[in-house]
Amino acid sequence: GDDTRIARISSAIRVIPDFPKPGILFQDITTLLLDPRAFRDSIDLFVERYKDKNISVVAGIEARGFIFGPPIALAIGAKFVPMRKPKKLPGEVISEEYSLEYGTDVMEMHVGAVQAGERALIVDDLIATGGTLCAAIRLLERVGVDVVECACVIELPELKGRDRLGDKPLFVLING
Ligand code: PRP
Repeated sequence: GDDTRIARISSAIRVIPDFPKPGILFQDITTLLLDPRAFRDSIDLFVERYKDKNISVVAGIEARGFIFGPPIALAIGAKFVPMRKPKKLPGEVISEEYSLEYGTDVMEMHVGAVQAGERALIVDDLIATGGTLCAAIRLLERVGVDVVECACVIELPELKGRDRLGDKPLFVLING
């Protein structure tokens, strides 16, 4: 059942203290990728949730949304669109600035990758403060895309990123 799969996923994620800085408990999904059963369980749980939701776009956030997004997109018959760090995409882009703990960052998407009226799922490995997902939502909504839901493997609930998404639904597999 779902509980068995969630337990397997949870045990396959490694937690590394003080990375990248003192006091941070880093949730390392590379160990999940080393366990094909657990990695497959994570993809299956998303696919079961999204397969009949008329989603035409899976938008994956650099870098680890590029690991979980494409297998989900293939399984539900949607296209995959990368949401990238600045100056990586070669074509014409639309950009969105967002705030970090110190300073700001920019997320970019190719113009023409999505059309107004399409239904999108945004995928990333983890939600912390929610700033990254908010920027992805804004980027897609600016071009008229309907963001149906955001999906992450891990949520850090103490950081209340979910609240920052307002009434945009967020689905996660485990709490870190
Ligand atoms: C991490 C994570 C999310 C983001 C979440 O990425 O993979 O994309 O932070 O944080 P937030 O909810 O506070 O916005 P990271 O900054 O490590 O970038 P990377 O995946 O390119 O290494």
